[in-house]
Amino acid sequence: MILAIDGPAGAGKSTVAKLVAKELGLTFLDTGAMYRGVTLEVLRLELDPADAEACARVAASLKLEFDAQGKLHLDGRPGEPAIRSSPVTRAVSQVSAHAAVRAIVVAQQQRIAATSRGVVAEGRDTTTVVFPRAEHKFFLTASSHERARRRAHELGTPQALEQIRAEIEERDRKDSTRAVSPLVKAPDAHEIITDGKSAEEVAHALLAIVAGRRA
Ligand code: DC
Repeated sequence: MILAIDGPAGAGKSTVAKLVAKELGLTFLDTGAMYRGVTLEVLRLELDPADAEACARVAASLKLEFDAQGKLHLDGRPGEPAIRSSPVTRAVSQVSAHAAVRAIVVAQQQRIAATSRGVVAEGRDTTTVVFPRAEHKFFLTASSHERARRRAHELGTPQALEQIRAEIEERDRKDSTRAVSPLVKAPDAHEIITDGKSAEEVAHALLAIVAGRRA
Protein backbone atom coordinates (compact mmCIF):
# COMPACT_ATOMS: atom_id res chain seq x y z
CA MET A 1 0.00 0.00 0.00
CA ILE A 2 1.21 3.51 -0.78
CA LEU A 3 0.05 6.45 1.25
CA ALA A 4 1.33 9.82 0.03
CA ILE A 5 1.31 13.06 2.02
CA ASP A 6 2.29 16.42 0.53
CA GLY A 7 2.21 19.96 1.81
CA PRO A 8 4.35 22.99 2.62
CA ALA A 9 7.21 23.17 5.13
CA GLY A 10 6.10 22.98 8.75
CA ALA A 11 2.59 21.62 8.13
CA GLY A 12 3.46 18.69 10.39
CA LYS A 13 3.84 16.14 7.58
CA SER A 14 6.83 14.22 8.88
CA THR A 15 5.58 13.80 12.47
CA VAL A 16 2.18 12.70 11.16
CA ALA A 17 3.69 10.43 8.48
CA LYS A 18 5.90 8.73 11.10
CA LEU A 19 2.92 8.09 13.40
CA VAL A 20 0.81 6.73 10.53
CA ALA A 21 3.65 4.53 9.23
CA LYS A 22 4.19 3.08 12.71
CA GLU A 23 0.50 2.40 13.20
CA LEU A 24 0.17 0.66 9.82
CA GLY A 25 3.55 -1.11 10.01
CA LEU A 26 4.75 0.55 6.79
CA THR A 27 8.08 2.18 5.85
CA PHE A 28 8.30 5.94 6.40
CA LEU A 29 9.75 7.60 3.29
CA ASP A 30 11.02 11.11 4.02
CA THR A 31 11.56 12.40 0.47
CA GLY A 32 12.74 15.86 1.64
CA ALA A 33 15.59 14.18 3.56
CA MET A 34 16.87 12.77 0.25
CA TYR A 35 17.01 16.24 -1.38
CA ARG A 36 18.66 17.49 1.81
CA GLY A 37 21.24 14.66 1.55
CA VAL A 38 22.13 15.61 -2.03
CA THR A 39 22.37 19.27 -0.97
CA LEU A 40 24.64 18.43 1.96
CA GLU A 41 27.01 16.58 -0.36
CA VAL A 42 26.93 19.43 -2.93
CA LEU A 43 27.95 21.89 -0.19
CA ARG A 44 30.56 19.50 1.26
CA LEU A 45 32.20 19.21 -2.16
CA GLU A 46 32.01 23.02 -2.47
CA LEU A 47 29.96 22.77 -5.68
CA ASP A 48 27.49 25.44 -6.80
CA PRO A 49 23.83 24.60 -5.88
CA ALA A 50 22.81 26.50 -9.04
CA ASP A 51 24.86 24.16 -11.26
CA ALA A 52 22.31 21.57 -12.43
CA GLU A 53 24.88 19.24 -13.98
CA ALA A 54 27.13 19.17 -10.93
CA CYS A 55 24.14 18.57 -8.63
CA ALA A 56 22.87 15.75 -10.86
CA ARG A 57 26.31 14.11 -10.85
CA VAL A 58 26.26 14.17 -7.04
CA ALA A 59 22.72 12.73 -6.95
CA ALA A 60 23.70 9.92 -9.34
CA SER A 61 26.81 8.89 -7.43
CA LEU A 62 25.51 9.22 -3.86
CA LYS A 63 24.04 6.15 -2.15
CA LEU A 64 20.95 7.32 -0.23
CA GLU A 65 19.56 4.75 2.21
CA PHE A 66 17.22 4.78 5.20
CA ASP A 67 18.04 2.67 8.27
CA ALA A 68 15.45 0.77 10.31
CA GLN A 69 14.76 3.94 12.35
CA GLY A 70 14.01 5.85 9.15
CA LYS A 71 17.22 7.92 9.35
CA LEU A 72 19.02 8.80 6.12
CA HIS A 73 22.58 7.59 5.44
CA LEU A 74 24.80 9.01 2.67
CA ASP A 75 27.30 6.51 1.30
CA GLY A 76 26.97 4.73 4.66
CA ARG A 77 27.48 7.89 6.77
CA PRO A 78 24.67 9.28 8.98
CA GLY A 79 22.96 12.29 7.37
CA GLU A 80 21.46 13.58 10.64
CA PRO A 81 21.75 16.20 12.02
CA ALA A 82 23.76 17.90 9.23
CA ILE A 83 20.94 17.57 6.66
CA ARG A 84 18.77 19.81 8.90
CA SER A 85 21.40 22.59 9.25
CA SER A 86 20.68 26.16 8.09
CA PRO A 87 23.08 26.11 5.09
CA VAL A 88 21.36 22.97 3.78
CA THR A 89 17.87 24.40 4.46
CA ARG A 90 18.82 27.57 2.57
CA ALA A 91 20.25 25.74 -0.49
CA VAL A 92 17.84 22.79 -0.78
CA SER A 93 15.13 24.61 -2.79
CA GLN A 94 17.74 25.44 -5.41
CA VAL A 95 19.20 21.92 -5.62
CA SER A 96 15.77 20.23 -5.64
CA ALA A 97 14.54 22.51 -8.45
CA HIS A 98 16.86 20.88 -11.03
CA ALA A 99 14.91 18.46 -13.25
CA ALA A 100 17.94 16.16 -13.60
CA VAL A 101 18.31 15.88 -9.82
CA ARG A 102 14.60 15.16 -9.38
CA ALA A 103 14.60 12.40 -12.03
CA ILE A 104 17.37 10.55 -10.15
CA VAL A 105 15.91 11.03 -6.66
CA VAL A 106 12.34 10.16 -7.74
CA ALA A 107 13.58 6.88 -9.31
CA GLN A 108 15.23 6.01 -5.98
CA GLN A 109 12.01 6.79 -4.09
CA GLN A 110 10.01 4.53 -6.43
CA ARG A 111 12.61 1.77 -5.97
CA ILE A 112 12.36 2.01 -2.18
CA ALA A 113 8.54 1.66 -2.42
CA ALA A 114 8.80 -1.25 -4.86
CA THR A 115 11.09 -3.20 -2.54
CA SER A 116 9.06 -2.72 0.65
CA ARG A 117 5.66 -3.94 1.83
CA GLY A 118 4.33 -0.41 1.64
CA VAL A 119 5.32 3.17 2.34
CA VAL A 120 4.02 6.33 3.90
CA ALA A 121 5.76 8.93 1.72
CA GLU A 122 5.85 12.61 2.56
CA GLY A 123 7.12 15.57 0.58
CA ARG A 124 6.06 18.07 -2.08
CA ASP A 125 5.31 15.90 -5.13
CA THR A 126 4.63 12.43 -3.73
CA THR A 127 0.89 12.62 -4.56
CA THR A 128 1.42 14.13 -8.02
CA VAL A 129 4.69 12.86 -9.54
CA VAL A 130 6.33 10.12 -7.47
CA PHE A 131 3.23 8.05 -6.64
CA PRO A 132 0.38 9.38 -8.81
CA ARG A 133 -1.43 6.06 -8.26
CA ALA A 134 -1.08 6.01 -4.46
CA GLU A 135 -4.11 4.39 -2.78
CA HIS A 136 -4.40 7.30 -0.33
CA LYS A 137 -3.38 10.93 -0.89
CA PHE A 138 -3.33 13.77 1.60
CA PHE A 139 -2.44 17.45 1.46
CA LEU A 140 -1.52 18.83 4.88
CA THR A 141 -1.33 22.54 5.39
CA ALA A 142 -1.43 25.24 8.08
CA SER A 143 -1.11 29.03 8.22
CA SER A 144 2.44 30.38 7.87
CA HIS A 145 2.14 31.79 11.41
CA GLU A 146 1.33 28.36 12.86
CA ARG A 147 4.10 26.70 10.82
CA ALA A 148 6.67 29.27 11.97
CA ARG A 149 5.54 28.84 15.58
CA ARG A 150 6.08 25.07 15.38
CA ARG A 151 9.48 25.41 13.70
CA ALA A 152 10.64 27.98 16.30
CA HIS A 153 9.49 25.63 19.07
CA GLU A 154 11.39 22.71 17.46
CA LEU A 155 14.54 24.82 17.17
CA GLY A 156 14.09 26.23 20.69
CA THR A 157 14.26 29.82 19.37
CA PRO A 158 10.87 31.51 19.94
CA GLN A 159 12.44 34.98 19.57
CA ALA A 160 13.27 34.22 15.91
CA LEU A 161 9.59 33.70 15.00
CA GLU A 162 9.31 36.49 12.42
CA GLN A 163 12.55 35.51 10.70
CA ILE A 164 11.50 31.86 10.57
CA ARG A 165 8.11 32.89 9.16
CA ALA A 166 9.82 34.94 6.43
CA GLU A 167 12.08 31.97 5.55
CA ILE A 168 9.11 29.59 5.44
CA GLU A 169 7.16 31.94 3.15
CA GLU A 170 10.19 32.32 0.89
CA ARG A 171 10.65 28.53 0.68
CA ASP A 172 6.90 28.09 -0.03
CA ARG A 173 7.18 30.61 -2.83
CA LYS A 174 10.17 28.80 -4.38
CA ASP A 175 8.66 25.32 -3.93
CA SER A 176 5.27 26.37 -5.39
CA THR A 177 6.48 28.40 -8.37
CA ARG A 178 9.34 26.24 -9.68
CA ALA A 179 8.98 24.87 -13.21
CA VAL A 180 9.53 21.20 -12.30
CA SER A 181 7.14 19.44 -9.89
CA PRO A 182 5.85 22.54 -8.07
CA LEU A 183 4.03 22.00 -4.78
CA VAL A 184 0.35 21.71 -5.73
CA LYS A 185 -2.58 19.87 -4.21
CA ALA A 186 -3.50 16.78 -6.25
CA PRO A 187 -7.20 16.94 -7.20
CA ASP A 188 -7.81 13.57 -5.52
CA ALA A 189 -5.95 14.40 -2.27
CA HIS A 190 -7.78 14.95 1.03
CA GLU A 191 -6.86 18.40 2.33
CA ILE A 192 -6.31 18.64 6.08
CA ILE A 193 -5.70 22.00 7.77
CA THR A 194 -3.59 21.33 10.86
CA ASP A 195 -3.81 24.70 12.69
CA GLY A 196 -4.58 24.05 16.35
CA LYS A 197 -4.44 20.25 15.95
CA SER A 198 -1.88 17.94 17.53
CA ALA A 199 0.08 15.50 15.34
CA GLU A 200 -1.83 12.66 17.03
CA GLU A 201 -5.18 14.24 16.10
CA VAL A 202 -4.10 14.68 12.48
CA ALA A 203 -2.71 11.12 12.31
CA HIS A 204 -5.99 9.86 13.74
CA ALA A 205 -7.95 11.72 11.04
CA LEU A 206 -5.75 10.21 8.30
CA LEU A 207 -6.05 6.72 9.71
CA ALA A 208 -9.82 7.07 9.89
CA ILE A 209 -9.94 8.00 6.20
CA VAL A 210 -7.59 5.12 5.34
CA ALA A 211 -9.86 2.76 7.26
CA GLY A 212 -12.74 4.00 5.14
CA ARG A 213 -14.33 6.12 7.80
CA ARG A 214 -14.64 9.89 7.94
CA ALA A 215 -13.08 11.46 11.09
O1 DC B 1 10.31 18.66 3.81
P1 DC B 1 11.69 19.28 3.90
O2 DC B 1 11.68 20.66 4.49
O3 DC B 1 12.70 18.39 4.54
O4 DC B 1 12.12 19.45 2.37
C1 DC B 1 13.32 20.06 2.01
C2 DC B 1 13.22 20.68 0.62
O5 DC B 1 13.21 19.65 -0.36
C3 DC B 1 12.01 21.56 0.36
O6 DC B 1 12.37 22.93 0.33
C4 DC B 1 11.51 21.17 -0.99
C5 DC B 1 12.28 19.96 -1.39
N1 DC B 1 11.44 18.79 -1.60
C6 DC B 1 11.01 18.57 -2.87
O7 DC B 1 11.30 19.37 -3.76
N2 DC B 1 10.28 17.47 -3.17
C7 DC B 1 9.95 16.60 -2.21
N3 DC B 1 9.24 15.51 -2.52
C8 DC B 1 10.37 16.81 -0.87
C9 DC B 1 11.11 17.94 -0.60
